[in-house]
Formats: sequence, structure tokens, C-alpha cells
Amino acid sequence: MSDATLSELQDLDRRHFLHPFSDHKQIGERGTRVITRGEGVYIYDAQGRQILDGMSGLWCINLGYGRRELIEAAHRQLQTLPYYNSFFQCTHPPAIELATLLAEVAPGSFGRVFYTNSGSEANDTIIRMVRRYWDIQGRPRRKTIISRRNAYHGSTIGGMSLGGMPVQQAQGDLPIPGIVHIEQPYWFELGQGMHPDEFGLKVAGELERKIDELGVDNVAAFIGEPIQGAGGVIIPPDTYWPEIQRICDEAGILLVADEVITGFGRLGEWFGSQYYDIEPDLIIFAKAVNGGYLPLGGVLVGDRVADALVDAGGEFHHGFTHSGNPVSCAVAVAALTVMREEGIVERVREEIAPYFAERWRGLAEHPIVGEARCAGLVGALELVSDKARRTRFPAAKAVGETCRDASIEQGLVMRHVRDSMIVAPPLVITTAQIDELIDKARRALDLTARRMG
Ligand SMILES: Cc1ncc(COP(=O)(O)O)c(C=O)c1O
Repeated sequence: MSDATLSELQDLDRRHFLHPFSDHKQIGERGTRVITRGEGVYIYDAQGRQILDGMSGLWCINLGYGRRELIEAAHRQLQTLPYYNSFFQCTHPPAIELATLLAEVAPGSFGRVFYTNSGSEANDTIIRMVRRYWDIQGRPRRKTIISRRNAYHGSTIGGMSLGGMPVQQAQGDLPIPGIVHIEQPYWFELGQGMHPDEFGLKVAGELERKIDELGVDNVAAFIGEPIQGAGGVIIPPDTYWPEIQRICDEAGILLVADEVITGFGRLGEWFGSQYYDIEPDLIIFAKAVNGGYLPLGGVLVGDRVADALVDAGGEFHHGFTHSGNPVSCAVAVAALTVMREEGIVERVREEIAPYFAERWRGLAEHPIVGEARCAGLVGALELVSDKARRTRFPAAKAVGETCRDASIEQGLVMRHVRDSMIVAPPLVITTAQIDELIDKARRALDLTARRMG
């Protein structure tokens, strides 16, 4: 693309396009990077620069760009039936086929699915579904959902209320009533001086205390991401999830796992719930269900809730025009089929994740890295000014942003969350491409250290 065409595009973008999660004034001043093409694990910008996509788009392009099977599935379905709804006792083959496949890959007690278009809508769906479940049980007071600080569950009013980011919630007077938050299992930030296992039990114990405070008869559910993604790849200590499971079981409240990021192989299991050996009642999914090629999300509904909804009869007044869109579902069927036939989940677990872990943890030796943690194919680096004391850089120095920019200069997409750098590369990444990712990340850290002075 010529420079003139590029600057014309950027100008039109600035004048007409309000971007999600962006400072529009800043976009106007700094301009945008125009991405024009993707192939495998790489994206290409308008100037033809190749960039390794260390974030799989937004944690979704798990099978890489340009997968023929997914493209052809969309093309076929667009020609056959681009749209029909699943309201009014109608259905169509792609939605049925996908529901059946999802029941096969999901943990044992999940036989049914409710479709949405996004992770945010799926989070809103669980608020309505959980409330309906307890109404059906004749326990209408059981309405409060307990979530965690620094969680991310989307940006609709419900999703953002479930999330736990005060800066975001300040816009729009959120959270809505009926949602409360407890502490997150972020050992590096909150647990220093304590053994991680002890810290895991301590923060999980907050759930028990919150239930007591609210009164168990008022609590509907606990929701959590198996690993908090947007919050900065917060990997809980091993003791955390088993304790959360025990507390939910004893209180009889529903356990909801938001697997929008951890679903479909990211941790080397089909679902993060399997990685942590927990048994939720509801699993929220989106993003990688169809390799991230088209909008699709939903809720896998475990038997406890699904049987109650079905047996009670009466309409569940909830759904979207594009719930179970045939093209999105057909691409998901193709994506899950590719994953099964190529053994992608097993390859992540047995080969790629162990290799990634060894290389990623090696970055902990860098002078400005206080911790290098990872699980499956997600990783985070905590940037610090003093390694021994694990002291953060002054906020005004914006070290995360500096490192993010340095990384792009090196041809690698790494995202920053406050002072952490995070990656979640496509599951189809090779060991040679992991080497490339690590080399580029190391050079970005070197540049950042120099720029921090
Ligand atoms: C855990 C989690 N839940 C929900 C969402 C929201 O999904 P969407 O952007 O598809 O609405 C995200 C998005 O990153 C997420 O990470």
C-alpha cells in the first residue's frame, strides 16, 4: 500500500471510527497501525511488515490465520443458508452439529449449550440463567453473584459488573446491584512473604467469609476465570481452585467458569476447568470456539441447571437474533474438527507448552523481570526496577507501554497490563517460532531497560 493510501485510510479512521477500549484523542494524535493481512502466526501491516502475533489477535486466533478448512466452511455455509434464527421452534444443522460436538469435548456433565455472539453476552446470559435457576428452585432470594477484583467478564452492563476493574466500572455507575467482589489470587502483587499455597487458601477463604457475611440463602453463584487473562495472566496458586470448589459445594451455590480465554486448548486441556480439575455448573465460552474467525459465544450448561430449566417448562425470555448463527457455527464445527484430527490440544499439552514454559521462564533472568510465569500457552512477565526487592517502576514511567511499543518495533505483539507483559500465541505455533518470540521479547526488554534509564 502506498504511503498516500495509508495516510488517507488513517485519516478516515480517525474521522469516522470510534475504536473499542481506546482513547480517541490519543488515536487522533498518534495515529493507528493498519493491519491488512494474516498468515499462520503472523500479521502484516500496511507497509508489509511481518509481525509475530503473540496474542492470537485478542486471545482467539488459536489455529492461526488463513486456515483453509475454516474459510471453506464459511463459504459453503454462506451459500447454503447464511442465516436463520433458532427462535419459534426452528433450528438448523450447523447449530445442532456444533452443540453435539461441544457436548463431546466438554467435561462429562455438560450436555447442552446456549448460544450468544460474544463473551460479554454469554456473561450477561449467566446472570439471567442463574437467577432463573434459583427462582425455579423456589429460592428467589438467592440472587447475589460473587466475583473477583481485577476480573474481566466483558463490557456489556452485566459483563462489566461481573468484572472487577474499578476504573472501567466508574464509567456508567457499575456494578449493578446483586454483584459483589472478593480479592483475586494474584500472588506476585498481594502474596509476597507468604508461600503461594498458603496465599491461595487465604484468598479462596474470602469466598467463605463473603458468603457468611451475605447469608448463604442470598448467594446464587461464584464466577471466575480459571486464569485471569485481561487482568494480567494471573495464575492462581495450586491450592486456590480446589478450595473454591469445596466452598461452593458446601454452600450449595453454583460455580461458573468463564473460559472465554482458557477454553479450547489454551492450557493444554479442552477447558481450563479440566486443567484445574474443577467441576463448574456453567462454562462460558467465546473467541477460539471457531478459531476466532467469526463472532460466536455461549454458555455450556451443566445438567444441574439444564435439567432444572427444561423440567420447569415455561419460556426463558432470553436470546439474540444471531444466537447460533449458522455460518459462525459451521466454522466452529470445522475448527473443532481440525483440533481433534490434528490432536492440537494434546500437542499443546505434551510438546509446545513444556517447550514454551522452559523458554519463557528463562526470561526471569532479565534484569527488569521480577517474575516470568506461564501455564499452557499463556505467559506474563512482571517488570520491576529493582529485581531483588521486586520494586515497581514509577507509574509515570509507563514501563508496560514502553515495552509494548519496543516489542512491536521488534516485530512481536506483546500486550501490556499495567506493568506486566503478556502473551498468548496461537496454539499452532512451532518450537522455532517460540524461539523467535523469546528472542524478540528479550530484545524488547533490553530496549525497555535502556529507555527506562
Ligand atoms: C474472560 C473473558 N470473559 C469475557 C470476555 C468478553 O468477551 P467479548 O469481547 O467476546 O465480549 C473476555 C474478553 O477478552 C474475557 O477475556
